[in-house]
Amino acid sequence: MRKPAILVTGANGEMGHGLIRALSQSGGQPIVGLDIQEADAGLKPALTESIIGNILDQNVLDSINSRYEISAIYHLAALLSTRAEFSPQIAHQVNVDGTLNLLSLAVDQARSHGRAVKFFFPSSIAVYGIPDGISKSEIGAISEDQYLFPQTMYGCNKRYCELLGVYHARHYQRLAADAGTFRVDFRAIRFPGLISAVTQPAGGTSDYASEMIHAAAEGRPYDCFVREETAMPFMTMPDAIRAITELMDAPADEVDQRIYNIRAFNPTAADLKRAVERHFPGAVVNFDVDPNRQAIVDSWPSDVDQSAAQRDWQWKPGDDFDSAFVRYLVPAIKAH
Ligand code: SER
Repeated sequence: MRKPAILVTGANGEMGHGLIRALSQSGGQPIVGLDIQEADAGLKPALTESIIGNILDQNVLDSINSRYEISAIYHLAALLSTRAEFSPQIAHQVNVDGTLNLLSLAVDQARSHGRAVKFFFPSSIAVYGIPDGISKSEIGAISEDQYLFPQTMYGCNKRYCELLGVYHARHYQRLAADAGTFRVDFRAIRFPGLISAVTQPAGGTSDYASEMIHAAAEGRPYDCFVREETAMPFMTMPDAIRAITELMDAPADEVDQRIYNIRAFNPTAADLKRAVERHFPGAVVNFDVDPNRQAIVDSWPSDVDQSAAQRDWQWKPGDDFDSAFVRYLVPAIKAH
């Protein structure tokens, strides 16, 4: 007998920690975690099984397929944007081939138990690419279908996987004899930069916000790798986790757009520095620009239009820029 479960890939990552806690507190089905690293001790009690394995290893996925009856997959495993520029082929394998493997697992599961498998995919602001010479302030808040010309391997991977997900949800094997009898209910959020008080990102380009805050909290000086006037959208990790659970809980016919922008605030790096100095007296933040990482952030919009998420699943960020520090980051980092 296969056991009912939810599968979370990238379980030990920045987002996996918060999501697994939230899913386990909501008391749903048992959670199976998959990650190339062993899950942290703090995560294990929330997992029915913690599998150390690679999403590119078909044996690992076959074993999961044979032992569990999966109702939802949260596919978080990925290489982030800066790291992907150093290893584009590996990024493509992990980010694209890995996602295709998980979508295939969802199809196999839906076929075998006859119910739709929900599939959450964390997409990214990196799917956008604003060409040089176009002013971001003139574009303003960008909608889901504008400027989809990513300039990074990670952005290309995320955009293609969005399309793969929608294809699996709407058209996959429509010529097959059993077409229409299995369904992958794909849902994606294009996240802005995420800031957590507990975990730190690894290999992303929006990492300067988290790095600046955590360095200040630990009394270390920080050299920010983008210019002071650089602005991009961000949100706190608890808001991001809540967004995932709200989108996944929404009735399928109300989230038919399947891919949604969200954000909470879009400070400049100078705004971040000022907030960090206010909340962590003695913080030292300097600017030492890395032109390549700067170019990546320059290709991302400074704001996104989240009206579709507000309309379809009543999305609302919990924290603005000030309350993110006062209510969440400062107390949680100090407690941590
Ligand atoms: N935070 C990600 C990165 O910087 C973007 O989604 O790579």
